Amino acid sequence: MNSLSQHAVPVIPLHDLLQRFNQVRRHSEHLASPLSAEDMGAQSMPDASPAKWHLAHTTWFFETFLLAEQLPHYTPFDPDFCYLFNSYYEAVGPRQPRPQRGLMTRPGLDRVRAYRAHVDQHMQVLLSGDLAPEVYALIELGLSHEQQHQELLLMDILHLFSLSALKPAYDPAWPVDATGQRGRFIGHAGGLVEIGHAGDGFAFDNEGPRHKVFAQAFEIADRLVTNGEWLEFVEAGGYTQAGLWLADGWATVQGEGWHAPFYWQQDNAGNWLEMSLRGLQPLQLDAPVVHISYYEAAAFAQWAGARLPTEAEWEIAAGTGQLQQLDDVAWQWTQSAYSAYPGFQPAVSAVGEYNGKFMINQMVLRGGASITPVGHSRPTYRNFFGPACRWMFSSLRLARDVTPYSARNDGSDEFARDAVTGLSAPQKSISPKYFYDTQGSQLFEAICTLPEYYPTRAETALLTEIAPQLAALIAEDAALVEFGAGACDKVRLLLDAVPQIGLYVPIDICSNALERAGAQLRQRYPALRIAPLVDDFTRALHLPEETRGHPRVGFFPGSTLGNFTRPQAVRFLRSARELLGPDARFIIGVDMVKDIATLEAAYDDAAGVTARFNKNLLTRMNRELDADFDEQAFDHLAVWNPDYERIEMHLVSRRAQQVRVAGRTFAFKAGERLHTENSHKFTVQSFTELAAAAGWEVSDQWVSESPQVALFCLR
Ligand code: AVI
Repeated sequence: MNSLSQHAVPVIPLHDLLQRFNQVRRHSEHLASPLSAEDMGAQSMPDASPAKWHLAHTTWFFETFLLAEQLPHYTPFDPDFCYLFNSYYEAVGPRQPRPQRGLMTRPGLDRVRAYRAHVDQHMQVLLSGDLAPEVYALIELGLSHEQQHQELLLMDILHLFSLSALKPAYDPAWPVDATGQRGRFIGHAGGLVEIGHAGDGFAFDNEGPRHKVFAQAFEIADRLVTNGEWLEFVEAGGYTQAGLWLADGWATVQGEGWHAPFYWQQDNAGNWLEMSLRGLQPLQLDAPVVHISYYEAAAFAQWAGARLPTEAEWEIAAGTGQLQQLDDVAWQWTQSAYSAYPGFQPAVSAVGEYNGKFMINQMVLRGGASITPVGHSRPTYRNFFGPACRWMFSSLRLARDVTPYSARNDGSDEFARDAVTGLSAPQKSISPKYFYDTQGSQLFEAICTLPEYYPTRAETALLTEIAPQLAALIAEDAALVEFGAGACDKVRLLLDAVPQIGLYVPIDICSNALERAGAQLRQRYPALRIAPLVDDFTRALHLPEETRGHPRVGFFPGSTLGNFTRPQAVRFLRSARELLGPDARFIIGVDMVKDIATLEAAYDDAAGVTARFNKNLLTRMNRELDADFDEQAFDHLAVWNPDYERIEMHLVSRRAQQVRVAGRTFAFKAGERLHTENSHKFTVQSFTELAAAAGWEVSDQWVSESPQVALFCLR
């Protein structure tokens, strides 16, 4: 009993323990209640067990380790059950091979239920007498053991149902994981700290002894990685880049053909769905990613320029109260191998096999999951699985080493995070949204007047020409919603020609720009109501109240859609459709595919303004991220990529060099590129298809004479 009695056992009033025993036992039966006898007999894979087996095995545990030992004259319910329902206890004897648990058509469910009733009845007798402390501890172990199997029962049922063509729901009303924003890194000073279980309450033997560890200063995310972030990893080719993966992980990805988390699948239209206890559901991008292996978690962390926390880091950070989603969504992989804490001694009796013998080839997960029984988990709890397992409710929370730069930061610096992530990837990149600081915005305005840069002029001319036709499409008292309105210049062409626009809703992240533009517009259009929305237009979720009851028209000129990747564009168009609501129209301006010379000149002008615009990113990182880019050591490059029908801008390293950014060091080879922008060009067909993928239909289209740009009206 060493390992169990190493923690003082509290004196629990007998009736409390009895009540808890009855509650836990009833809960197992409650969990099985939505299942048919057929559901409960099937075994979907060697790692999973039939629900019927879980119900019997947990009962066998009480019978074997408590009733048979403690109740004089107790006779086992059925002598065959020890063989059938022993899980892995060598000291107790031989057993049904694990992969063949699904072959047990006998005993039937009724007999298993009778077995439970028989053992429960005798446990009432045991629980009503005087109990030695170690017997208390064993009963607690039996209850925690049963709760572990309650979680396993749900994992195993989900796996079974995921393999069914019907994709049944275990419970259509099973709660959805809470959605929310992406995680932020929170700093921790580290130092000499203590981890592990201490004190009175129950804990498994593997949680102790409490001991000291030294942790370097670190940062840890306050939330779990979301499905949306994981989708970016998938779309960036995360599952196809060997460099991101551990050797065993890469072999598994290839051997198993993994390309997404365990329960993700795509429908014919390319939409992502996820199998859950509620059945097959659309993937919630804001919800945490679940059902990933250690290999995947480690590869994602590598891709994100971060790492997994150690279990010590996880435990001390959990104690600060700053972490969310600790134990209510999914267990979180740590980078710690499952091994004994200093001073660990397994029990000498059969229950010594409970944890200790599994301390090999497994990784520790911390926290708890949505399927974990209430009150079962603790901050010191050490869950463990093999690195390739994915059927448990597993997720990840990122961590990273503290550097002088990030130590000065509160973790909210999205620019630093994106830059570090982008520079850590095998193909270095950074989002074009970071072009537009004050200097970058001025340079872009200058670009718009360059002889080579035709899109702005061509679109303005086209818009002026077709404004009367647009007017005919726009309903009386319409609300015009402009995405990324900035200085609200182009909209004047519309407002001049479409007097029936009653309300204008410019959306932009920059409140100053909106205020300034709003004041000017009010002077020029005194009858127009203006309801500005300060928000990232790609993430805006709600329109101002004032738009209620107005027919809605979206407006997105300027070819900015071309700066999105295709998945980003589809996502944006889809969310705009939801934001604008049914019966809305959406007017979008894009640039068209044309001869390469015209395109490349537009992005590599003779005066070098676009080159300065591109290199301003380096200047901005030097200023805001403590970077040390030598701007002279990079060349501006604009090239046509025919495969994606886009102009790409890159900064090309002239020589092999190392650069510090946000406290990290990044190596560039001579000729290596930092990809800074895509500017997709369209044909009528490719744009129509893109719009259709997001549920829009092109109702009208106007294409200018050479150089061609286009305006589309969607419905
Ligand atoms: C803002 N966006 C539509 C411009 C474009 O053409 O893709 C940005 C730009 N990049 C280089 N020149 C202009």
